[in-house]
Amino acid sequence: GKVAVMFGGVSAEREVSLRSGKAVLTALQQAGVDAFAFDPQQQNLAELAQLGAQQVFIVLHGRGGEDGSMQGALQQLGLPYTGSGVLGSALAMDKIRCKWLFQAQNLPTAPFAVVHSSDADFAGLLASLGGKVMVKPANEGSSIGMSAASSAAELQQAINQALQYDSEILVERWINGREFTIAILNGQVLPVVEMRTPRAFYDYEAKYQANSTEYLCPAPLDAQLTAAMQDSALKAFNAVGASGWGRVDIMLDDSGQHYLLEVNTVPGMTEKSLVPMAAKAAGLSFQQLVLAILSQSNR
Ligand code: DAL
Ligand code: MG
Repeated sequence: GKVAVMFGGVSAEREVSLRSGKAVLTALQQAGVDAFAFDPQQQNLAELAQLGAQQVFIVLHGRGGEDGSMQGALQQLGLPYTGSGVLGSALAMDKIRCKWLFQAQNLPTAPFAVVHSSDADFAGLLASLGGKVMVKPANEGSSIGMSAASSAAELQQAINQALQYDSEILVERWINGREFTIAILNGQVLPVVEMRTPRAFYDYEAKYQANSTEYLCPAPLDAQLTAAMQDSALKAFNAVGASGWGRVDIMLDDSGQHYLLEVNTVPGMTEKSLVPMAAKAAGLSFQQLVLAILSQSNR
């Protein structure tokens, strides 16, 4: 049937989604799929039906696309869509509720606090989390609104910045170590990717703009640690009720302990993105990856 590739949208990650979506649309068309672009920022869902969509490939990142709201709307329209359903999408979007679920399942995740205002005991909060923290808006992606802090003044500034994006802020103990991500595709765990950046962390610029980011896939880890991290990633994916495809971000500290950061239910599909890289290491071309994701749109 005819496939609407949904990308663009209204979130802070719109630019990333435009890049991801164009890559997916092109790959589908090259594979002979009758696919067309659909941007919810410019078109409404009534048009989707008029355009003859029988299936939707969601490549929207962030709020309004990755958080369950679009999934619910499509379900009401009776249109099958790719990826996670309403619950898994909504839970994975929220980094705080993600971490509560990880804790409930005894999965490793760094200690954290939740903050709702710029009026807090910053020095006390910082001390309770080991003196250095990462501050994140609860419902953002691509590191938007995130910053590190290692003094009370920096923490206040970081929280104020994050509050521009969300009313709920995650303050997480800083993990000194290496950054990894693990893609899940139709029940299979793909090879681990390591991201190395000379920047303070793998931020928006390191993700999409810098040429200085290095990617290693399969990540240089011993077999035991690889298996342990893949096991945690799959359990985290299942804990939040995600399905189809996605990507779980993980840190590894200097003592060899790993920590789950979050689950992404519509991870980036740009030319620099990590799921395509992991798929390639598993022997799947970008086109094969996109077709595999589409094959699971069975809601
Ligand atoms: N939120 C971005 C798109 C990612 O997880 O890849
Ligand atoms: Mg994310």
